[in-house]
Amino acid sequence: MEKPKIADIKPAVLELEPGDYFWCACGLSKNQPFCDGSHKGTGFAPKKVTLDQKQRVALCNCKHTANPPFCDGSHSGLA
Ligand code: FES
Repeated sequence: MEKPKIADIKPAVLELEPGDYFWCACGLSKNQPFCDGSHKGTGFAPKKVTLDQKQRVALCNCKHTANPPFCDGSHSGLA
């Protein structure tokens, strides 16, 4: 199976406004942790996340989380 690129080995901790976001799953986006269309031609697709309220989130940058788009601590096994 195709492996995602590790964009960083720590999550992006962000305070986000309510709305729709597209999390980069392939790791190739230049706009981490969000999709910039770079997955084209790979087997990856971005993951949409909808926030109903302003929220502080930790979005996975290592792309190995089992709970995308959120960090689940898997990055600690990659360093
Ligand atoms: S950054 Fe990927 S699991 Fe934490």
